[in-house]
Amino acid sequence: MTGSQHDPLDGTATLDPALGPTGRPAREFPEPEPLDGHGPARIISLCNQKGGVGKTTTTINLGATLAAEGRRVLAVDFDPQGALSAGLGVRTHDVTTIYDLLLTRQHEPKDAIQHTTVEGLDVIPANIDLSAAEVHLVNEVAREQILAGVLRRVAPDYDVILIDCQPSLGLLTVNALTASHGVVIPLECEYFALRGVALLIETIEKVRDRLNPAITLDGILGTMYDARTLHSREVLERVVEAFGDQVLETVITRTVKFPDASVASAPITQFAPEHQAAKAYRQLARELIFRGAVA
Ligand SMILES: Nc1ncnc2c1ncn2[C@@H]1O[C@H](COP(=O)(O)OP(=O)(O)OP(=O)(O)O)[C@@H](O)[C@H]1O
Ligand SMILES: [Mg+2]
Repeated sequence: MTGSQHDPLDGTATLDPALGPTGRPAREFPEPEPLDGHGPARIISLCNQKGGVGKTTTTINLGATLAAEGRRVLAVDFDPQGALSAGLGVRTHDVTTIYDLLLTRQHEPKDAIQHTTVEGLDVIPANIDLSAAEVHLVNEVAREQILAGVLRRVAPDYDVILIDCQPSLGLLTVNALTASHGVVIPLECEYFALRGVALLIETIEKVRDRLNPAITLDGILGTMYDARTLHSREVLERVVEAFGDQVLETVITRTVKFPDASVASAPITQFAPEHQAAKAYRQLARELIFRGAVA
């Protein structure tokens, strides 16, 4: 079952409004119960070695919408490009970054945490220094487990930690997966979206076998979806065929509001709270709470 029927005459499809974009009945996820207390955090990596699929955008906006649900959220910038830090408007120079926490023992993880303009959303920033970390970590004892050791020390203060991975399956990403309870894979609804996903899942399975038996796939998130194109719908159909219920029901549509929000260094929920994409990220937060991926 999918949400579209193809019209042989014009090549477009008519959408059944009762079905969501992933072909399941459209629904709103319920408002979550408030939490009695906070922590320890469940750690989730946003991971896809393909570039530009919405990992950073999702970390920022999911972080903001989970915080709006009363969750204490720590977002970890784990990409030397520092896009997450920039997108949340925090400092990346002359401050303690994730690189310092990984490579030196003088720093307390708490010293690297910065607050954002979103109440309940904190960040550990990164900058270009992190690009050297992979080379330095190679010679460390238990080199895959260094980030896990760092995050263990701040986990009691948060309900969820989101790690924004860089587009690679190298040692930094393996550190992120080793530190994580779950993984969310953002997938752009474009041609070749599925290319590379098998390798990513194989990497997650290797990490599960060798380093982190508890890691689970929390969901695959369709991003940059355009309901007006047959092509976008077909890609999503194929993803649902391949991954079934692992595909999250929430789908993020393509909109120019995201590049605008990055320029504004703010989540879309602050920049354009009534925009459909802000609503989609609120739904994503609720879906992940509903599925038990977040407390
Ligand atoms: N739903 C969307 N609609 C339109 N543009 C989007 C959407 N989501 C993200 N973008 C834009 O696409 C670009 C890439 O997004 P983003 O940086 O989140 O991807 P990424 O997976 O983190 O990339 P990288 O692999 O380089 O880290 C950014 O300019 C962002 O503003
Ligand atoms: Mg990114």
